[in-house]
Amino acid sequence: MAHRWQNDLTHRDITPESLFWNRRKILAGMGGVGLGAIGGGLAQAQEAELDPNTWEEVTSYCNFYEFGTGKTDPASYAGQMTTSPWEVEIDGMVDNPGTYGFDQILSEMTLEERIYRFRCVEAWSMVIPWQGFELADLLNLAGVQEGAKYVAFETLLRPDEMPGTRYPVLDWPYREGLRLDEAMNPLTIMATGIFGKPLPNQNGAPLRLVVPWKYGFKSIKSVVKITLTDQEPPTSWNMANAREYGFYSNVNPEVDHPRWSQASERRIGGGLFSRRQPTLMFNGYEAEVASLYEGLDLTKNF
Ligand code: MTE
Repeated sequence: MAHRWQNDLTHRDITPESLFWNRRKILAGMGGVGLGAIGGGLAQAQEAELDPNTWEEVTSYCNFYEFGTGKTDPASYAGQMTTSPWEVEIDGMVDNPGTYGFDQILSEMTLEERIYRFRCVEAWSMVIPWQGFELADLLNLAGVQEGAKYVAFETLLRPDEMPGTRYPVLDWPYREGLRLDEAMNPLTIMATGIFGKPLPNQNGAPLRLVVPWKYGFKSIKSVVKITLTDQEPPTSWNMANAREYGFYSNVNPEVDHPRWSQASERRIGGGLFSRRQPTLMFNGYEAEVASLYEGLDLTKNF
């Protein structure tokens, strides 16, 4: 059998052929995104009534502390971040560790539209039409090894392009993590776009995690590293204040933040008439994800 160096391998090499040929290819370049159907009818009925926020709201009211702590700082300063070329290192307990180019990843993935509720831990929310692919598809390409239990993520850290990282607001780089079963859940996506356009920098270009049943800070932006591990990984907000920000951070109207209630949320938009509305258990995705937490005390494991 011919021997090949690891870095000669492409996904065509590491993907079982049947799987490879079954993948619907997406249009490279992202100009016109070739959208697949919404995945498997999952949560489809539930999402049908969702009324998305506007482009203006989603792209101007942001949290991306690498560019400052103000809601409009990301829109003002994230333009300086170089997003092409972009590489994602996948390492740890995987069969195919390596550095994968963003375009290479895109060429292997099926993009879908997912309209999700997005609930920030600060008790505001939006409805966002994302485009992206299931994280499980990427992890399957990398080949998750037996014994891996968690997935850790890191954001780009480039202080000359990210003015907020010159201050010790968080222990940079921004880090997040999921249990492997959470990462593999079909609702968990890596988003590459919103409203059918490539992700604006302030929303986490070119590739960010979206975990719709968890508080927004779990949805880490501008990902450059994904590590499979058997240990619960350290995460930025939990390291900053473990009493206020748990590892799980599932949206839960019954478990308040120590400094405010999580029972309701302010839906961004609508100006003066912006409504407060009840927060839903698991942000409305209970049917899809509650089984992940059977037997777990959600008050302790918040
Ligand atoms: N990712 C990084 N790298 N840095 C951040 O400051 N903020 C988080 C999350 N991901 C953040 C991040 C928080 S608190 C929220 S609510 C969402 O991004 C906001 O996403 P949006 O600005 O696209 O709505």
